Amino acid sequence: MYPADLQKIAHTVEISELRDTLMKQVPAATANLPATLKLLSDPVRLRLCALLSQAELAVQELVAVTGLQQSRISNHLSLLKRAGLVRDRREGTWSFHSLVGPGASSPLTEALFAAAIAPWRAGAEGAVDTKALQAVLDQRRARSREAHDRLAARWSASGEGFALGTLRAELLAAAWPCRGPIADLGCGTGFLASWLASRGAVVVGVDHSERMLERARALCGDAVQLRLGELDALPVRDGEVAAVFANLVWHHLPDLDAAAREVLRVLQPGGTVVIGDLVPHRADWMREAMGDLRLGLEPEAVLGALLRAGAVDLRAERVADRYCATDAAGQGVEFPMFLVAGRKPTAMQAEGPPAASRVL
Ligand SMILES: C[S@@+](CC[C@H](N)C(=O)[O-])C[C@H]1O[C@@H](n2cnc3c(N)ncnc32)[C@H](O)[C@@H]1O
Repeated sequence: MYPADLQKIAHTVEISELRDTLMKQVPAATANLPATLKLLSDPVRLRLCALLSQAELAVQELVAVTGLQQSRISNHLSLLKRAGLVRDRREGTWSFHSLVGPGASSPLTEALFAAAIAPWRAGAEGAVDTKALQAVLDQRRARSREAHDRLAARWSASGEGFALGTLRAELLAAAWPCRGPIADLGCGTGFLASWLASRGAVVVGVDHSERMLERARALCGDAVQLRLGELDALPVRDGEVAAVFANLVWHHLPDLDAAAREVLRVLQPGGTVVIGDLVPHRADWMREAMGDLRLGLEPEAVLGALLRAGAVDLRAERVADRYCATDAAGQGVEFPMFLVAGRKPTAMQAEGPPAASRVL
């Protein structure tokens, strides 16, 4: 049945190479294949899928990359979402879209991705889009850095507003025992790094905001090595640290997987990672006030990213302390927090237990 069906569907494919490749490379077609092929036969939809396979994007960002009208993009996204090829994640009044990559629940098979989306990305038009996408992502980073530069003068005060004052001890307890150098990622003005150093730890603080680091330098002096850098490209050597802490920074990250891979890279085997952040909330004003990208995070999103990066012994816990901020009307708001902890496997764990101890 499929060869005939494929021919019929492929008839509507406007890109002849795509049709030829599909005919050759999709022998094991699924029940959804005709509908999926039809969707991907439209160059705009193929283009959107190729972009959304590279980054989670808001409609405005897709407009900036492609130069297409917002209404046209929204219509195509609706079709792709209805077919299960694209998912959206709502964040207050914003919506972020990403491709549902090949997997059990996706109508997109590995073969179809390789036959349709990968060649589009690798082609001349795809390369132009990827370059424009890079520029949009660079602007996003620059906006985030600038927001944190502006916030630096206030952060020393506002970043230390916690209901109980137990947060730092709770994070440290989750990494205990912790022997060796510690990295504090997104260290800001040094709230956690200075405290860890005062307890005798060798601490490396990383942040992408120069103004935050200036404040941290004033607070920590030489007690903490401060480095300018991004969480998805850490200025830290492979296996340099025994523990990684990252407090209130993961909700700023567009790509949790990239940051998780970096965390695993810089940890020694057996090293610990502890990430503290806000649980999902609806305070949209935090975007403007704090430069936030996400309105809190599901602990599962952090767990998933660390798991995919190879972390083991993962767990999520509610933190007793709560972050306190003040809205534009001067009202104090308390935000519940979670922590996620895990470890980089030792070499033995990575390879699995010795054969003799395996239960067969
Ligand atoms: C909300 S502050 C938290 C600071 C500190 N961890 C604390 O608990 O006080 C977030 C910090 O993460 C930094 N940051 C945000 N996104 C980052 C990124 N992609 N790479 C490096 N630092 C980042 C910001 O510059 C800011 O200093």
